[in-house]
Amino acid sequence: MGITAADWTFASLVGDTESFFAQHFDRQPLLRRGALAHRTRDLVTVDQLDDVIALQAVSPAYVRLARNGQGVSSKAYTRTTGDHGTGLAETVVPERVYELFRSGATVSWNHLEHLLPSARHLADAFSDTFACPAEIVGFLTPAGHDGYAPHHDPVDVFVIQIEGTKDWQVWQPPADRRGDSVHYPADRLGEPALRTTLRPGDMLYLPYGTPHAAAAREQVSLHLSVTVAPRRWRDLLVETVQELVRDEAFHDVPFLGDTTAADAADGHHDRVAERYREKVADLCARLTALRPDEETTRLAAAGRARAGAGRPREFTRLAGLDALTAQARVRRTEAPVELGPSLDGKTSLLVNGHRLAVPDAVADTLRALERGGSLPAGKFLADAPEDRSVRAAWQLARLGVLQAVSQTGA
Ligand SMILES: [Fe+2]
Repeated sequence: MGITAADWTFASLVGDTESFFAQHFDRQPLLRRGALAHRTRDLVTVDQLDDVIALQAVSPAYVRLARNGQGVSSKAYTRTTGDHGTGLAETVVPERVYELFRSGATVSWNHLEHLLPSARHLADAFSDTFACPAEIVGFLTPAGHDGYAPHHDPVDVFVIQIEGTKDWQVWQPPADRRGDSVHYPADRLGEPALRTTLRPGDMLYLPYGTPHAAAAREQVSLHLSVTVAPRRWRDLLVETVQELVRDEAFHDVPFLGDTTAADAADGHHDRVAERYREKVADLCARLTALRPDEETTRLAAAGRARAGAGRPREFTRLAGLDALTAQARVRRTEAPVELGPSLDGKTSLLVNGHRLAVPDAVADTLRALERGGSLPAGKFLADAPEDRSVRAAWQLARLGVLQAVSQTGA
């Protein structure tokens, strides 16, 4: 059984989110014992990871191995498979992975959220919180072996111990944190700030740039690392400017001129500089006119959309719609709909890139549902026969304008 949004939140992991963001996020590590006790099996199991390897169609991009703290070349555990001569692909060979694991290698599964619905749910909780993509990586380390040598990662990491135990050493993040991952010789780090053994359900948060090392001692260890790289202010501001300069006003191409004295003498430089000054002033005016609350909401939504958070099961949704009955209640979706003026009893409607003309009655009902609310599909068109009403609601649902209100009211 996969976990659902209802029984799992970001706060289940980090505790009080306000104090997490005030005291730990981007500052210092946090260890929470038993944060997800009794729920670890809902996240990812060794069985599921076995299944992924056994698929025999897995690209090495999803599976990495490390032995004695160093990465193993993927050539050691992949082969080139052909599909009746039409294409060639590198795929992971299960037997070689098992053999390397038996000889002490740590196996890691990248982007588990691409492969397992339970990992997808976990990633969604982080994408919602940080408004950016989250990656779930699984690490399986054989008993008595080190995972990776001391290093730091360029992203924030939330470690969740799933099975077995793992000994961690964590050093204080340096004042000047470099962006890349760096491996440290053991003697350069000194005494760790934290030495601990993680047990199933424990959570360890490491801000980016925190040096760490881990080893499995008595038994096989499985942990998940959830990694996020939330956008900094500079990233967000670049996105805002990028959006503003999409306007027609910034579309034309200036002739910048060359650097010859003749060019300077005929005043071309000055004219280009003046045009540039005007464009900057225009951009500044647009920046100042932005409503900060609207823009931050837009940036957050754009970040979550990039993560694909909450992606619906489209085939299931479409199949469900085909059974729309007159009694089923429908409501508007989040999709923005533009309704144009009415002409000859028809109103133009623009949604998800589709433009179509709908009867005015349809437009009236859509406007009435704009601020929430729902009605039975059979009554979607006032004064029309029930079957015509259902058909109109069905067509709009297929376009993503309407959705059926589920029985649970979710
Ligand atoms: Fe790491």
